[in-house]
Amino acid sequence: MEESLCRIKNLAHASVASLEMKMQQYDRWSENFESDVSNLDYRAPKICVDHLYRVIESKGLQFTEETEIIDLAAGTGLVGKFLRDKQFIGTIDAQDGSSGMLDVAKTKNIYSNFYECILKPDAILPLPVNHYDVAILSGALSDSQVHPTCLKDILRHIEVGGIFVFSTRSNRNNLDFKKKLEIEIEKLEHDGCWEKLLVNDVKEFERATSPEEVIQAADKQQITEEYPFISGSVYCYRKLN
Ligand SMILES: C[S@@+](CC[C@H](N)C(=O)[O-])C[C@H]1O[C@@H](n2cnc3c(N)ncnc32)[C@H](O)[C@@H]1O
Repeated sequence: MEESLCRIKNLAHASVASLEMKMQQYDRWSENFESDVSNLDYRAPKICVDHLYRVIESKGLQFTEETEIIDLAAGTGLVGKFLRDKQFIGTIDAQDGSSGMLDVAKTKNIYSNFYECILKPDAILPLPVNHYDVAILSGALSDSQVHPTCLKDILRHIEVGGIFVFSTRSNRNNLDFKKKLEIEIEKLEHDGCWEKLLVNDVKEFERATSPEEVIQAADKQQITEEYPFISGSVYCYRKLN
């Protein structure tokens, strides 16, 4: 556990000078990523997939063989795995800036197309435009990873009426980022780019890397666990134009 925590703190949560350096960190982490995040009870990929299905089922819709999903910042492919666990039979493509992480995703035989590129503000991504029925961005919206203004760029690749599901953590160190993210989300709503389908705060999102990361409840309940859970949020939006 200590070794996993150390890697998570030094690799996933640490600030770096550039996104390229962050991608190199993930290249180095790719072999240990899944066992490390499993020690942390990392739930973002499953939470995103479960919320996608909640939205689809609440609308009486069903995915088919024709449905195409893009898994953004796909990492080692955990989102793809949970989609297949739900018997998703359509196409899943994967995008990530780390070749090491994508190499692990390739071994799962889940994805059709792989796009190795970095999401950064105003980047032109080599993905088909107005194309995907669904985009999922799990566990990558935080400082030194995917910038909030990338949401707008990603929308270019979703077809009108398509669904975008993404998540962020609500631990102490991510609160400023989350505020900026929610300003961007509201701006896109105000500009008529998308409409809200479902937003949910999830209490047990993943375990904290230190008790200080937990935002205590108003009653200042004592944190007794060594690795308490932090909360997180999941957002589901529908592209309008
Ligand atoms: C914590 S992992 C999450 C992986 C996967 N989505 C999941 O939930 O298991 C973050 C992933 O996002 C990728 N990533 C982070 N920032 C990125 C960016 N700006 N552009 C492309 N990939 C990025 C990393 O390479 C890494 O694979």
